[in-house]
Amino acid sequence: MAKEKTVYTCTECGGASPRWLGKCPHCNAWNTLIESVADNASAPKNRYSQQFQSLAKACEVTALADIEATDMSRTPTGHEELDRVLGGGIVEGGVVLIGGDPGIGKSTLLLQALDSLERAGLNTLYVTGEESGAQVALRARRLGLDGSQVKVMAEIQLDKILATLEATRPAIAVIDSIQTVYSGQLTSAPGSVAQVRECAAHLTRAAKSSGVCIVLVGHVTKEGALAGPRVLEHMVDTVLYFEGDTHSSFRLVRAIKNRFGAVNEIGVFAMTEKGLKGVSNPSAIFLSQHSEPVPGSCVMVTLEGTRPLLVEIQALVDDGGPNPRRLSVGLDRDRLAMLLAVLHRHAGVACMDQDVFVNAVGGVRISEPAADLAVMLAITSSLRGKALPKGFLAFGEVGLAGEVRPAPRGQERLKEAAKLGFSVAVVPKANAPKKPIEGLTIHAVERIEQALDLMRSLQ
Ligand code: TYD
Ligand code: MG
Repeated sequence: MAKEKTVYTCTECGGASPRWLGKCPHCNAWNTLIESVADNASAPKNRYSQQFQSLAKACEVTALADIEATDMSRTPTGHEELDRVLGGGIVEGGVVLIGGDPGIGKSTLLLQALDSLERAGLNTLYVTGEESGAQVALRARRLGLDGSQVKVMAEIQLDKILATLEATRPAIAVIDSIQTVYSGQLTSAPGSVAQVRECAAHLTRAAKSSGVCIVLVGHVTKEGALAGPRVLEHMVDTVLYFEGDTHSSFRLVRAIKNRFGAVNEIGVFAMTEKGLKGVSNPSAIFLSQHSEPVPGSCVMVTLEGTRPLLVEIQALVDDGGPNPRRLSVGLDRDRLAMLLAVLHRHAGVACMDQDVFVNAVGGVRISEPAADLAVMLAITSSLRGKALPKGFLAFGEVGLAGEVRPAPRGQERLKEAAKLGFSVAVVPKANAPKKPIEGLTIHAVERIEQALDLMRSLQ
């Protein structure tokens, strides 16, 4: 009997190599080749199609203006926070991929969404490959979804899932998870690169041809990226990530890619006894509750998608000895080193012999440079042991020359702060509003020295 042929497939790009290599020859990623059984079934098919390519008829081409493009109709899921990241609701024929750590609440949220849609009169299907029907039913009881009419199917065979989709024609189907689905056409195990790619491609095609909206649940790797081939993210219309601390009950759902809406939108949920509940005013979560202002704390407004969020930045500056440490949680550490240098050079605030710790409260990650000014003010406040005044906030990017640069959408940030009762703001000059905002005193600054002088005069 001939020895079964094996190939090595890259988990990043799906490229194949006949031998094991440390580096993928296709995408140059390291240590990504894994052994899988060679798939002979697909080879003759490709040769066949190549042979007859010349006989294929040319397709018609149409001018863009002549194509009738009606606006996509969206069906809200009834969960406002989820609809926000989806761009308004589910879209006919849309494919959504949702990833996140195990136990973060993917299955819970999707079950809740399906139940709301079913109650709104849509035909739904929940395909589970990880749990039995009884387990799903048990969860539904816990969620208080009594008398739920959501159709459940415990199945992992792709052909059966496709046949059921064809026969029952639901408006929305959830596949929990894509890593458990397998196609009999391939010899490799479920969850392998080839299987995930094949199954996702078939399901996407089914969605586009029949108009069913398909939601794929995806596992994530230890690094937090979606497991399986990278191409998965290209195949689907929308990619959502579940984020959150396992220690806190808050969960963020972030849109990484959305062909039907804005990216970087976030939805905020709280995990409760009765499942996930949307949080309509998330700014309150990220502010720690001090009754009186404390040194080393400065509030900023960050922008998550189109949504302004108030976040408290905390800093602790302490005697550090010969090798002082610089640590940051939720903020970029290299940027912190840079800001300390700017603070020293342009504002005369020296932290050379001090440990500096910076933290964004509530487990948020801030990647935008608009946090610079708040970080520097928090550090200075901690170093001097003097608190910033009550109702104070600051935002703005600080450059290497000590200049304070504007942040995008300054007006919206300031309006959100005023809404939450903040009264004093230090902002870049270009962000100063033309019309005064009620309840908010705005100080516009051009340089970091100016901001620090202002801060001292307010303390
Ligand atoms: P689950 O949706 O199963 O996570 P995933 O599908 O992403 O792996 O979430 C399970 C977690 O949520 C589990 O740790 C228990 C918790 N949970 C609640 O706190 N309240 C609830 O009502 C439910 C159903 C789950
Ligand atoms: Mg699950």
